Amino acid sequence: MQNNVRPETMQRINTIELANAFIEEQVKAVREQVGDKKVLLALSGGVDSSVVAALLIKAIGKQLVCVHVNHGLMRKGESEQVIEVFGKALDANLVYVDATDRFLDLLAGVSDPETKRKIIGAEFIKVFDEESAKLDGISFLAQGTIYPDILESIKQAEGKKAVKSHHNVGGLPEEMAMELVEPIKLLFKDEVRIVGDALGLPHNMVYRQPFPGPGLGVRCLGAITRDRLHALREADAILREEFEIAGLAGKVWQYFVAIPDIKSVGVKDDSRYEGWPAIIRAVNTTDAMTATVEEIPYPVLHKIVARITSEVDGINRVLFDLTPKPTGTIEWE
Ligand code: XMP
Repeated sequence: MQNNVRPETMQRINTIELANAFIEEQVKAVREQVGDKKVLLALSGGVDSSVVAALLIKAIGKQLVCVHVNHGLMRKGESEQVIEVFGKALDANLVYVDATDRFLDLLAGVSDPETKRKIIGAEFIKVFDEESAKLDGISFLAQGTIYPDILESIKQAEGKKAVKSHHNVGGLPEEMAMELVEPIKLLFKDEVRIVGDALGLPHNMVYRQPFPGPGLGVRCLGAITRDRLHALREADAILREEFEIAGLAGKVWQYFVAIPDIKSVGVKDDSRYEGWPAIIRAVNTTDAMTATVEEIPYPVLHKIVARITSEVDGINRVLFDLTPKPTGTIEWE
């Protein structure tokens, strides 16, 4: 097994050529490690697991089994893209599990953010466990661990306190005693992205903004309801579309919509219209420990307001969160 410390001499991967060399090296290493055995991967559709999937498909093809659990808290179109890219274009051995009802039933009435996180994390492991128990002859578990994850675990082992329990969906129980395959564990995020480019993954997948493991679950504030979650997903899709059009998508580190569990009085078609507010958050940061608010041009904001209030059922106001971190965290929960 490779060790967990990045050698000081390791060259920074900042060109496609270097990425290709890295891929070749890892393809060889993975083939040597797994032989003709099968490897399991929890494929969330995030950058890291997607790059690992593409790399392993190149190395061992159908010996890799990808399991994508849709917890019903994905953004609009994300699970569909996983099926499109991995199931169809790359012809992967993909198991797709739509567990939406399980998650939403368990979360019904739960309003505490940390409890929501714990439920989502634990249920994810349960679903993944159940699915992997149905598979035969799996000897290895692949993971999209990257170097900052390793540095973070070292910090946690030193006893530094976390503000939120950042449970990365995809974490697996320790009793799953399988040997790990972690081909990108010595890479930083920018390097992972270049490797993803070199592997030919779609741009929006490789340059995807960070998305919390519990997904829209911590953006549908308070107790999640299906109607508010639906409104959130649609409003968030509009925000992302308009940021793309305005050329802000690659410039702003993280941008999203959150919807609180409150209604205000509004008016539509000359009638009283009670609806939820959609809160827009758009922040820049280097390490997510502090963050500043991106200045969005008013015409862009006006267009987003007009689209969300006219296209999304149940939303009658749009608010823009001007709070830096601290005091606001990036997410609302
Ligand atoms: P906060 O809200 O703590 O967020 O300022 C900092 C960064 O972490 C992400 N985040 C999470 N990521 N599981 C995750 O995998 C979580 O439970 C979680 N909560 C926050 C957040 O999106 C931001 O990028």
